[in-house]
Amino acid sequence: MSEHIILERRDAIQVIRMNRPDKKNAITRAMYASMAAALREGDADASVRVHVVLGVPGAFSSGNDLADFMAIATGGEGGMEVYDFLIALAEAEKPIVSGVDGIAVGIGTTINLHCDLTFATPRTEFRTPFVDLGLVPEAGSSLLAPAVLGRQQAFALLGLGEGFSAERAKAAGLVYDVVAEDTLETAVFAAAAAIAAKPPEALKIARDLMLGSRETLVARIKEEGAHFRARLKSEEARNAFIAFMGRKKAG
Ligand code: COA
Repeated sequence: MSEHIILERRDAIQVIRMNRPDKKNAITRAMYASMAAALREGDADASVRVHVVLGVPGAFSSGNDLADFMAIATGGEGGMEVYDFLIALAEAEKPIVSGVDGIAVGIGTTINLHCDLTFATPRTEFRTPFVDLGLVPEAGSSLLAPAVLGRQQAFALLGLGEGFSAERAKAAGLVYDVVAEDTLETAVFAAAAAIAAKPPEALKIARDLMLGSRETLVARIKEEGAHFRARLKSEEARNAFIAFMGRKKAG
């Protein structure tokens, strides 16, 4: 288990909290592994009715740990933990509610495309700089974002790397509601409690009907992953990681 993932049970709600504030919740391989296990264990536990995913104040997540990317870019081995997590997310059998405050970069944005309800705060900005980093969209976002946001907004997000404010994200369909920072968790837990109070069998069928088969989504996650791993070793990506690592010295 990763020390940076805090798991908690609140009645029928399973809470998965990313807690690495000094790195703005950059996600490491160990964190992916812990979150994948938590999703699967929560799905298998009949007393869990809903998953909640949270970050820390001001940072939902700054995305994949760039030091881990750099290790692959310079010839190291990457793990498959991220894909295991993404597949657990895509195949989750129970509803997922996320609460996003502040930074939501890369996978910190795309996780939310797998959530049934996402709450954000006014200071939240969603951003996926994949192309700017020499990379490609991941987490099934190349499939989900056009479906959720429409082609043009999806291109702005995934192709241009434009930042989406919470309000823009709500208008585009990525966010269920925007609430004040100090009421974020209250809103998230109220929604999760409302989900937990529904008849679980009927809710599961309703959700499965809305989501349809996840096979195509999982296949897309794998297809994106093959491109992503190849791109991590590209010169474009290596230069972008070196620029990030060196930015404070340069500044
Ligand atoms: N991976 C590893 N470390 C990261 C990180 C990431 N994705 N994002 C931030 N950090 C680290 C920083 O290196 C810094 O560490 P340090 O204090 O040891 O130098 C610390 O977290 C705080 O980040 P900082 O950049 O000082 O905070 P900020 O508020 O000025 O900016 C971000 C926050 C998220 C906008 C900025 O850190 C950033 O752009 N990060 C990279 C995001 C990214 O490209 N993610 C991958 C997407 S695929």
